Amino acid sequence: MTSHHQSGAEPAYGTPRPRRLRRTPALRRLVAENRLHPADLVLPMFVKEDLTEPRAISSMPGVFQHTRESLKRAAVEAVEAGVGGLMLFGIPRERDAVGSAATDPDGILNVALADLAAEVGDSTVLMADLCLDEFTDHGHCGVLAADGSVDNDATLLRYRQMGVAQAEAGAHLVGTSGMMDGQVGAVREALDHAGHLDTGIFAYAAKYASAFYGPFREAVDSALVGDRRSYQQNPANRVESRREVALDVAEGADLVMVKPAMSYLDIVAETAAHVDVPVAAYQISGEYAMIAGAAERGWIDRDRAIGESLVSIKRAGAHIILTYWATEVAGWLNNGREL
Ligand code: PBG
Repeated sequence: MTSHHQSGAEPAYGTPRPRRLRRTPALRRLVAENRLHPADLVLPMFVKEDLTEPRAISSMPGVFQHTRESLKRAAVEAVEAGVGGLMLFGIPRERDAVGSAATDPDGILNVALADLAAEVGDSTVLMADLCLDEFTDHGHCGVLAADGSVDNDATLLRYRQMGVAQAEAGAHLVGTSGMMDGQVGAVREALDHAGHLDTGIFAYAAKYASAFYGPFREAVDSALVGDRRSYQQNPANRVESRREVALDVAEGADLVMVKPAMSYLDIVAETAAHVDVPVAAYQISGEYAMIAGAAERGWIDRDRAIGESLVSIKRAGAHIILTYWATEVAGWLNNGREL
């Protein structure tokens, strides 16, 4: 008997009752319009040169700067959980004005890529951040001109070399994330000339100058003073993302990414509606920290907030999501848990 009878009210026949489909976990599962799969999730990882044991990142509880050894173990764990791929960031011992360690085959990012290529090979998709900010002593994503501005075209020369170094180290995809104009075309050309026709470009196509990158600065021991507003996008702009994404696709991007994710779901939806390459979104360090921090204080239900944030990114139109929770959430999904 329904509550209508118990309360004596006449059931209103013909009343649409959407709640019927929400009654049990099985009904909700059957009619879910979007669901996450472990293969949708990409795990960003940090590896630091000369580290003897993994080091916790205080603003990202549960995330570590890895040693080469602990990186391999975490990568195997992620692959066994079925994640779609790994995105690698390197933190070198020494930094200089042009980010020399980024293009050195013995530089930390390149040796770690080779380690992972040997360890997990083609059982996952190996990706690397293609940007100079972890490698420069000033912390900017490119090389500087005499007046201190970031020199777009001089930076492209470095990105070309970096892309080739990462392809040679074993990256399946290189993640152009520096927001220099022409970077996708430049890296594509360099890869092709070096014979790396099959190495793809995962373009951070719409990337905003965001305060939510904050914890990432700690994650990579960033030397940056100031901000990246002269090359990353203004959060006020939406139409501009169409242009950025279209340019990257025209220059040869194999996949495009929107970043950050949660404050930019309109951009994710718009990008998904306009391109015919796979669309990804990056749930960045500050998004992670907000949920982790509030959950630590008991202010929100951690696991539900994680699940809700990820499915909202998928609902907006991202088929691939970069998240520091990738391995953990893949485990939940493998156990059939309702998010
Ligand atoms: C550039 C890069 C950044 C992030 C990914 N690639 C930093 C930036 O653009 O300032 C941020 C990722 C995160 O915050 O989780 N190397």
